[in-house]
Amino acid sequence: MTTPTAPEAARAAGQATVTAHPGFVVAPVQRRVFGSFVEHLGRCVYEGIYEPGHPTADERGFRGDVLELVKELGVSVVRYPGGNFVSGFRWEDSVGAPERRPTRLDSAWKSTETNQFGLHEFMAWLGEVGAEPVMAVNLGTRGLQEALDLVEYCNHPGGSELSERRIRNGATAPFDIRLWCLGNEMDGPWQLGHLSSADYGKLAARTGQALKRFDQTLSLVACGSSGRGMPTFGAWEAEVLGRSLEVVDYISAHAYYDPHAVDRQSFLCSSVDMDQYIHAVVATADHVAAAKKSSRQTMVSFDEWNVWRQSDFGGEDHLEWSDRPPHLIEEEYTVDDAVVVASLIMTLLNHSDRVGLACQAQLVNVIAPIQTQAGGPAWRQSIFAPFALMSRYSRGTVLDLRVSGPSLTTTTYGDAAALIASATHDAKSGAVVLSLVNRSESEAIDTRLDLTAFGPLEVVEHLAMGGGDPTLTNTADHPDRVTARRVRDTDPDGLTGLVSGSPSLSVDAASWHLIRLTAHD
Ligand code: AHR
Repeated sequence: MTTPTAPEAARAAGQATVTAHPGFVVAPVQRRVFGSFVEHLGRCVYEGIYEPGHPTADERGFRGDVLELVKELGVSVVRYPGGNFVSGFRWEDSVGAPERRPTRLDSAWKSTETNQFGLHEFMAWLGEVGAEPVMAVNLGTRGLQEALDLVEYCNHPGGSELSERRIRNGATAPFDIRLWCLGNEMDGPWQLGHLSSADYGKLAARTGQALKRFDQTLSLVACGSSGRGMPTFGAWEAEVLGRSLEVVDYISAHAYYDPHAVDRQSFLCSSVDMDQYIHAVVATADHVAAAKKSSRQTMVSFDEWNVWRQSDFGGEDHLEWSDRPPHLIEEEYTVDDAVVVASLIMTLLNHSDRVGLACQAQLVNVIAPIQTQAGGPAWRQSIFAPFALMSRYSRGTVLDLRVSGPSLTTTTYGDAAALIASATHDAKSGAVVLSLVNRSESEAIDTRLDLTAFGPLEVVEHLAMGGGDPTLTNTADHPDRVTARRVRDTDPDGLTGLVSGSPSLSVDAASWHLIRLTAHD
């Protein structure tokens, strides 16, 4: 038998150390990673953000209760109008007098689209939220010309047929939309107008070139794979970027993590997959650039991510046509789901040098942090708190941490670190915000935070989720059962007061901790 060395002994005992230094930085916090997604799918729009006649709705039909929750959630950008929906969408249907807008069949979700909520309504609603649009164009059933028309309609000040139509429709000032997605999941066989990588690469390059001819300061997102498990993953990104590298700014990534498809320990380690996914896409993009002798650094747009029990959904082919907003993929999120969502946001932050945009999918009712009843209440799901708190407090720079600690074994991802961490530092205010997730389903971890380099710090707040019953959810009857708790109220070991050097805390199994500190003068 060999005697364990000191770090091995520490690992065996479930101890970890997280070292932070203000001089070691990944990148500035990319505010656009706190994005969300509104698709014309199920009850995200209708009975979600828009419900004329609801007791809290304004004269435009925007639900006031939902609007307040969206503001509290702190979304920085909102992707719209799909998703699979966009690949059959005619944007012209959604503008002009509402009573003259056509009702269409949406083949993506087998739903009836009345177009009562359209482009102008979205932009007005987004103005109330205070977020930025990420507009997707239809490259499924349509192409370059319609994309160019939409950009002209939205962004040209006036004096052309389309810009004057926008003005007649009530928007004198251009919408000035900066971020554009060139289609959605074009690698997916389920996508209307699904293309091969070569065909999509050509289309993305031609459309991108035309949009940049219109305005070279636009930021364009090419479709990457719709998942890391797609058979064409990697080759798709290489082919698409091989053809469009010089005109696109981002390549997209999509990932949904399904607790019903894997065991609990693997699910808690979902962020291993997201981390490897980002590394793989960045490596592919950089390989394409190297082969082309280009210095271009394509950023990743993780514009669909979340927890979704997709294996329970059964797929689009099983849907029945519906003439009312259908209850589609409405998840009831658990404490475990919230811990995983926290770990996914931390992973996005830790890649701030290459992930410049991300959208949690979706915002309301459909795999969403906000849930509503038609004519009734709106409430926060368990996954609301990690998003809202990290969006509110992640400012300044993302720190490049050093984390050592125990590892665990998963059936899906092999060996993984049990404890992960992320941190931001706002040099202006002196705020340091640390996030820790213990991905172990069974073992608490004694964690030492080496913060020596910051000098004395004051604990502003120590919050946590998890560590108790992982299955609890919020419902209309129990809307506040699951939220972040102040650790000091439930556990005498919560961090409080003045800390200097290396304070310690215990991080429960399957839990997320958020520790807010500020410089002590
Ligand atoms: O977010 C739900 C759906 O998932 C989107 O419409 C599609 O892009 C993805 O497959």
